[in-house]
Amino acid sequence: MKITVVGAGNMGKGLVKQLSKAGHQITVTARNLDNARALAREFDNVTAAPVDQARGSSDVVIVATGYADAIAALKSLGDLAGKVVIDITNPLTADYMGLTIGHDTSAAEEIAKALPGAQVVKAFNTVFAQVLAEGPELNGKRVPVFYATDSERARETVHVLIHSIGFAPINAGSLKNARYLESVAGLNIYFGYGAGHGTSIAPAWIGLS
Ligand SMILES: NC(=O)c1ccc[n+]([C@@H]2O[C@H](COP(=O)([O-])OP(=O)(O)OC[C@H]3O[C@@H](n4cnc5c(N)ncnc54)[C@H](OP(=O)(O)O)[C@@H]3O)[C@@H](O)[C@H]2O)c1
Repeated sequence: MKITVVGAGNMGKGLVKQLSKAGHQITVTARNLDNARALAREFDNVTAAPVDQARGSSDVVIVATGYADAIAALKSLGDLAGKVVIDITNPLTADYMGLTIGHDTSAAEEIAKALPGAQVVKAFNTVFAQVLAEGPELNGKRVPVFYATDSERARETVHVLIHSIGFAPINAGSLKNARYLESVAGLNIYFGYGAGHGTSIAPAWIGLS
């Protein structure tokens, strides 16, 4: 797949590493192009581009910025109608211990509203950057990546993408269920940071595979 990753921070790095290892063709961008360039230099099949040239002919765009920057960052790529947009963001409060929106909407739904025609899917938001970077096995088990979307094409695309990097794709239903996934991420962050268990953990569901 041709994939644009918007963001070269903790999650952008992990996504680029795993996706490039799986043979995808990646374009990475960031606010500061030097950060994207430094990341791209580590891999053969990754190129860096300024934000307004980063969409190119990618089939998939992954937004790996903070939620507060996500809509502006995506809009600066140009028209995303018809593209599969993977939203990995969590709408966190400044202390990371709460969500700024929820119950009656979610980051993913707000992104979908702001990008009419884009096929938005929530995914990867429950996976810590450290887990993503280390790869699909954690304590001998495959790490689940939950995804939620209203688009059949986005569902199929994200399923194949997650499978291609060795993680376990789990269909979590419609985009509205991003509200639950963002809350699960909030609990994961509590366990990782608030309760001090560290970031080598991942939420999973007994009986699902
Ligand atoms: N960290 C985790 O463990 C984790 C886990 C699951 C989900 N998430 C979610 O994933 C997202 C990214 O987290 P992170 O930890 O990777 O953040 P981060 O390290 O702060 O990286 C954010 C990246 O977004 C880029 N960016 C910001 N505004 C931009 C814009 N307008 N155009 C292009 N690029 C822009 C930044 O560019 P510069 O490099 O130029 O500053 C940076 O590369 C967040 O929404 C977070 O909630 C994080």
